[in-house]
Amino acid sequence: MKSLSEQVVERAASILAGLDWTPPQCRQLARLVALFSSLPPPPDPLDMFARFEQLQAGLCRALAGGEADLLEESFLELYAHLHGYQAPYTRKERQAFDRAGGYWCHAGGISPLLRAAPYLSAGAVSVDLGAGNGLQGLLLQWLYPHQLAIQVEISGAMIACGRALQQWLGLAGERVRWVHCDLLDYHPQACDFVYLYRPVRPLGAGADFYRRLAAGLDSQPAAPVVFSIADCLRPFLPARFEVFYSDGQLTCYRRNDEGAPTPDR
Ligand SMILES: C[S@@+](CC[C@H](N)C(=O)[O-])C[C@H]1O[C@@H](n2cnc3c(N)ncnc32)[C@H](O)[C@@H]1O
Repeated sequence: MKSLSEQVVERAASILAGLDWTPPQCRQLARLVALFSSLPPPPDPLDMFARFEQLQAGLCRALAGGEADLLEESFLELYAHLHGYQAPYTRKERQAFDRAGGYWCHAGGISPLLRAAPYLSAGAVSVDLGAGNGLQGLLLQWLYPHQLAIQVEISGAMIACGRALQQWLGLAGERVRWVHCDLLDYHPQACDFVYLYRPVRPLGAGADFYRRLAAGLDSQPAAPVVFSIADCLRPFLPARFEVFYSDGQLTCYRRNDEGAPTPDR
């Protein structure tokens, strides 16, 4: 007999099948729907999740109702709420943030989550450069268990919130590393999967960050994959990095070490 959560996944997948996702992507979205519909309210050290229960009730109603668009929308509302848009910064963090001209903590959306499956095998290391409370990297870890998810963020309060969310999602301590720093001072380590959502503007010191990142991605031994939202990295990447997916919001690169163009996956 199927467990209750498997039954919820099946139900959500059958509802969401009408949308534009491929069957595997639809399945991952259904797993997230089942997760969010069943979790207790999250720990809320920053008082950011006041609408969790209301939005969760909406998600459960949409699951019962069976309409695909409504189910996806209800899920997205809860997902965006959990990203915690109003990131708090100390005065010092705020000054560093303003100097680099990055984006506030907008959620990167579910497209990267659902498209990442082929690139996060068990031994992979991922990094989110400008992670906010890290929900995106935590959900990647939850969906596709891998060796390590590194979360780099300038707001210490958001990292504290992210650590609490990590426990809430039941992710073991050693599977997530939190790095509290300004990306302008960060020297990226080799990673299999790099995710970023325009954490700094590509000018001045920000350009140095992208230059450093691109050089590291070019020189590391294992060919990395990069998922970049509101992409600023392209002008800094050498020609052997090719775009294998782009929809105007998300741009995905892989390093092609063979020289010949590779087909899209
Ligand atoms: C647009 S949000 C992306 C959040 C998350 N990565 C996602 O895609 O859902 C950008 C994040 O980068 C962080 N950030 C901005 N400037 C930064 C800097 N100089 N160093 C580190 N993080 C920074 C912000 O605090 C914010 O959390």
